[in-house]
Amino acid sequence: MRELIQNFDNSNRLRQQAHRIIPGGAHTYAKGDDQYPLLSPGFIVSGYGSHVWDVDANEYIEYGMGNRAVGLGHAYAPVLQAVTSELERGCNFTRPSRIEVECASAFLETVPSAEMVKFCKNGSDATSAAIRLARAATGRDLVAICRDHPFFSTDDWFIGTTPMNAGIPDAVRNLTVGFRYNDLESARNLFKRYPGRIAALILEPSRGEDPEDRYLHKLQALCHENGALLILDEMITGFRWHSGGAQHVYDIVPDLSCFGKALGNGFAISALAGKREFMDLGGIEQTGAPRVFLLSTTHGAETHAMAAAIATMEVYRHEPVIEHLVRQGTKLRNALNQVATAHGLQNHFHVSGHPACLVYATFDAAGEPSQMFRTLFLQEIIRRGILAPSLVVSYTHSDEDIEKTIDAISEALVVYKCALDHKVETFLMGRPSEHVFRSFNARLPPHHDAPGSDVAGASVGLGTGLGIGLRTGWGADMQTDVEAGVAASIAGVTGLAGRMGQKT
Ligand SMILES: Cc1ncc(COP(=O)(O)O)c(C=O)c1O
Repeated sequence: MRELIQNFDNSNRLRQQAHRIIPGGAHTYAKGDDQYPLLSPGFIVSGYGSHVWDVDANEYIEYGMGNRAVGLGHAYAPVLQAVTSELERGCNFTRPSRIEVECASAFLETVPSAEMVKFCKNGSDATSAAIRLARAATGRDLVAICRDHPFFSTDDWFIGTTPMNAGIPDAVRNLTVGFRYNDLESARNLFKRYPGRIAALILEPSRGEDPEDRYLHKLQALCHENGALLILDEMITGFRWHSGGAQHVYDIVPDLSCFGKALGNGFAISALAGKREFMDLGGIEQTGAPRVFLLSTTHGAETHAMAAAIATMEVYRHEPVIEHLVRQGTKLRNALNQVATAHGLQNHFHVSGHPACLVYATFDAAGEPSQMFRTLFLQEIIRRGILAPSLVVSYTHSDEDIEKTIDAISEALVVYKCALDHKVETFLMGRPSEHVFRSFNARLPPHHDAPGSDVAGASVGLGTGLGIGLRTGWGADMQTDVEAGVAASIAGVTGLAGRMGQKT
């Protein structure tokens, strides 16, 4: 039987301090405490390849990869070497650094459908600049976002469309409208409803499903017929679908596109790329149109971030990174869906998405999407050394990582099944995780236990080592029954999972 991770003492101490001095206790909502179970690592101290270590020295195979920003693996040596040697020459000067031109050339070779590129630090910088540029180019105010895609920017034009829109004036919120993916008619209706008013449509080229019947091409034609631009947000698809982006895979030349995340293997660099006729509006040589303030920040072109991107693109050019991501992701998805079926959980746990960018869904006994079950699943895989808010692989996820992950998830699904048969609250320590985009917080801070719960006791008192800490109100007999059932299932299923891992 594997050793379960149970000690989060340092994490818990640091959490208290973090929430006192940092709103939200973290600098990215998706990494916050409310996204994770109570029994989880609060803070990571180091990462190497596909593994990370928390402040209590627990080790995990991880599948979040810095919100998908790390494609090659943590502390990937060639990227680190490029960064450190660049840093020794200084990181920010009075005039542009030579490496800005080198990085732009490398990018345009990697993404040949773009004619010009301008770098920045965050994906939101790029998407917001694309929106401003489209508005300037068309002289129009409205922008249309794909409603099936969850995130485009931290700026008001997008955050205003979410339930977490406090502080954003109605006047701004009313300038963003929506359409549906793979549904040309919904975009057509928008243009009918707002004739001559829409500057651009922005969407991800794909979130796993492919565009049907040349959808992207038809959408772009529709945009052009109506005087609008098509912007592809390749923050996730770039350097996961293909180094040239999903635009290369789907053979489309968008008017503008936005890259970030894996471009610098975790270092802060993003890019707005696109057709010269639009990008040039931000230049200092054009005289025919008003000047557009297009991406100009103090830290926008830090030299080490450029070095990280050049080194990252070099690896993609010479090594089978995409092939590796697809192979490992396919193996993981097929095996996990088989394991779920073997447990009879095919209607309750499902892995889907592009192999380089997998996600999973959790459903309750009634087949409804369930945060409680998501949180229980996270709790149980974390105990087994897997940190996976998604199932995003990197170039350094090895066959052994994948096999260990399949085994661990298979065990976790045994507990999941017990929770379906009994009651999820009995197995989950503390509150469920939450959606980031909600209008109000729950009454209790997300890092605190509910009053009267026995979470703290349960987390340390798992005598059997099965990790089934049961909550107050359970008789000893019932606990023994469930633990015995889980032990037997895990014994049977571990072998099964191992065999499945090898087959796929
Ligand atoms: C599709 C997409 N676009 C834009 C962004 C914004 O990127 P950033 O967080 O770097 O500002 C994200 C971030 O998650 C994203 O997933």
